Amino acid sequence: MKIPFSRVPMAGNELNFVKEVLESGWLTTSTKALQFERLFAEYLGVRYACAVNSCTAALHLAVEAVGIKAGDKVLVPTMTFTATADVVRYLGADPVFTDVEYGTCLLTPEILQAALAINGNVRAVMPVHYGGQAASLATPEGNGIVDICRSRQIRVVEDAAHAFPTKFQGRFVGSFGDVTCFSFYANKTITTGEGGMLVTNDEAIYNRVKTMRLHGIDHDVWDRYTNGKTSWEYDIVAPGYKYNMPDINAAVGLAQLGKADFFREQRQRCALYYLNELQNLSVVDLPLCVGPVENHAWHLFPIIIKPDAPVSRNEFIHRMSQQGIGTSVHYKPLHRMSYYRDTYQLNEKDFPNAERIWQGIVSLPIYPDLTDAELKYICAAIRNILS
Ligand SMILES: Cc1ncc(COP(=O)(O)O)c(C=O)c1O
Repeated sequence: MKIPFSRVPMAGNELNFVKEVLESGWLTTSTKALQFERLFAEYLGVRYACAVNSCTAALHLAVEAVGIKAGDKVLVPTMTFTATADVVRYLGADPVFTDVEYGTCLLTPEILQAALAINGNVRAVMPVHYGGQAASLATPEGNGIVDICRSRQIRVVEDAAHAFPTKFQGRFVGSFGDVTCFSFYANKTITTGEGGMLVTNDEAIYNRVKTMRLHGIDHDVWDRYTNGKTSWEYDIVAPGYKYNMPDINAAVGLAQLGKADFFREQRQRCALYYLNELQNLSVVDLPLCVGPVENHAWHLFPIIIKPDAPVSRNEFIHRMSQQGIGTSVHYKPLHRMSYYRDTYQLNEKDFPNAERIWQGIVSLPIYPDLTDAELKYICAAIRNILS
């Protein structure tokens, strides 16, 4: 069998919607992007959504809109993709890296408190909902990540690249922090090829993001063609970016959004299969799912090969690929990346959980059309290699 790490399900209205865009003669941001934003916001129950051309763009716009400036400190968990920290550097601000919890790979309120105790003047925190599971954002007792930040006037920019649709305490991720950013990169839970969405309930943030998303123009090009006013005149109120989502991508996103619940259920089917089949494998730690399984987007299924396993993580990946099975690693932590390590003199000893995770972590295939026969084949290969 050949089982890739990722396979994109495109069997719905994607082609029809893209055809509509191509036939309309208007290929850039217009009605499809607006419709995608509206339906996405409705789905999550948030006031505002801004479609952009990547989650990296959304994160950049988000940290800019909450007022991060050169020299500011922003807390970022080390177990993430480089984009989370990169956008902080785009603004000349400095990421302060934290460890994560073993098992969930998440920033926890306890880790956050400890980091705040030794770092004064933190302006923002960027929780990453690793793998599709929400970090502990809020609790009835008021000691969740957002609670702690609110009480200290620290802004919360959530990296939800993996977390659509993810719930926390009965609400979708997207309505907790100041701003939340989603990714629609090709292997994400829904995709537009490349793309992202920024959501917020804060009108001032929304207005700033809308302006900065398109060159700092005081209103969208689309408005200029549709609001009946003079179509050519515009002002530049800030040196903005070029981050808008074209309608071709939004058309794919609209088709995918309609299937988001089904996709999540199918990913959950895969996760439950792995959890059940691999539970007795003593040399592997399975991902820790804290809340109800239905809250989890199951973007990733990372297992940790323990030090007493008969093969190393790298050998495991090699042997899986010999069996035709694609895997991946999420992530080599940022404190190990030469740019961040050298710029901030980071030391592995300060990230004990991330170090333990990193030595053994490997992500297994998980996607809606992964069949039970394929799952059976993968689990048999894992058992074979690790026993
Ligand atoms: C945690 C995390 N944040 C941000 C990003 C950036 O997303 P994009 O590729 O849409 O810019 C990714 C992409 O994989 C990610 O995994």
